Amino acid sequence: MAKPTDFAIERTASAVSAQRRADILGDPGFGRYFTDHMCVMEWTPEKGWYAARIKPYGPFSVDPASSVLHYAQEIFEGLKAYRHADGSVWTFRPEVNAARFQQSAARMALPHLPEDLFLQAIEALVRTDSDWVPEGGGERSLYLRPFMFASEVFLGVRPSKHVTFAVIASPAGPYFPGGLEPVSIWLSEEFTRAAPGGTGAAKCGGNYAASLIAQAEAIDNGCDQVVFLDAANKHDIEELGGMNIFFVHGDGTIVTPRLNGSILEGVTRASVLALAEELGYRAEERSVSIEQWREGVVSGDIEEVFACGTAAVVTPVGLLKWRGGQLSCGDESGKVTTTIRERLLDVQYGRVDDAHGWLHRLV
Ligand SMILES: Cc1ncc(COP(=O)(O)O)c(C=O)c1O
Repeated sequence: MAKPTDFAIERTASAVSAQRRADILGDPGFGRYFTDHMCVMEWTPEKGWYAARIKPYGPFSVDPASSVLHYAQEIFEGLKAYRHADGSVWTFRPEVNAARFQQSAARMALPHLPEDLFLQAIEALVRTDSDWVPEGGGERSLYLRPFMFASEVFLGVRPSKHVTFAVIASPAGPYFPGGLEPVSIWLSEEFTRAAPGGTGAAKCGGNYAASLIAQAEAIDNGCDQVVFLDAANKHDIEELGGMNIFFVHGDGTIVTPRLNGSILEGVTRASVLALAEELGYRAEERSVSIEQWREGVVSGDIEEVFACGTAAVVTPVGLLKWRGGQLSCGDESGKVTTTIRERLLDVQYGRVDDAHGWLHRLV
């Protein structure tokens, strides 16, 4: 099994200059810039995983008949590397991402990637490109994107016998440029994201392709994000296009929709559930209908709504909008939302004790 030191390292001859990199890290945005290198490895049924290497960041050569282009056999992950005040670089619960990646792979008939190989790939890339991890101020980080896709050249509906795994990295600022401004959410009543028995609990590209039309509808209606209902009854709230959702009740209970097989089990969601209990709130996973959301806000029982995910951390929801109506959920980040957000960021940036052992040192 490859160790980080076993990864063949081919360094780029055209690294981005230190000045240009500093400019990018000063205002990275999200998903716009990529580091100098990437990690790649290959898989076949005969060889298992092989050819683990760090190489210059650049395009793949993709045959027009590569099966991923036709049958969308592809999965990905998203996690971040955080620079602490002492200069060290850490990531957050990467073993949970590794486990989710394995579950996504199993659902999409892709090969199993052992946890240690997943971690070693991330470590090898972040160590090679450690200069790209921004200083932690202003919620900056290096976003890591591991992914796996069917790279066999063939047409026909069956699992690919050649698979490529890669990790790329992208310096990131806040996901929503408005910072802690509450976001507005569009209720998708026509389109659903994932159905029972489908791929909703897997992090596969197809789920996102299916969500784009609803996200476009959200933008057309002046909203930042879309919220999906369950596909069978269009009754229960599932999640946003790229985040899980929480409701803060006046009695101190924090509720998130229970996992039903079509919701993505967020690493942030799980961490918020744990942190909420630690901070003295009662955390519950149960179904929440769209009526309960509306009625809860109107009656005052629901005091805050927030969304969470690796990219957006914890972000207040200020408005729910649908065809023919809207409901204000708060003009600013509520006290509970802010408290949970700050605690999570404090753990990730090493400002408080890592009581859960969630941090994993990379550099
Ligand atoms: C559909 C969806 N739900 C939830 C999440 C939040 O997951 P995590 O907290 O692991 O980033 C994401 C982000 O990856 C997502 O794409």
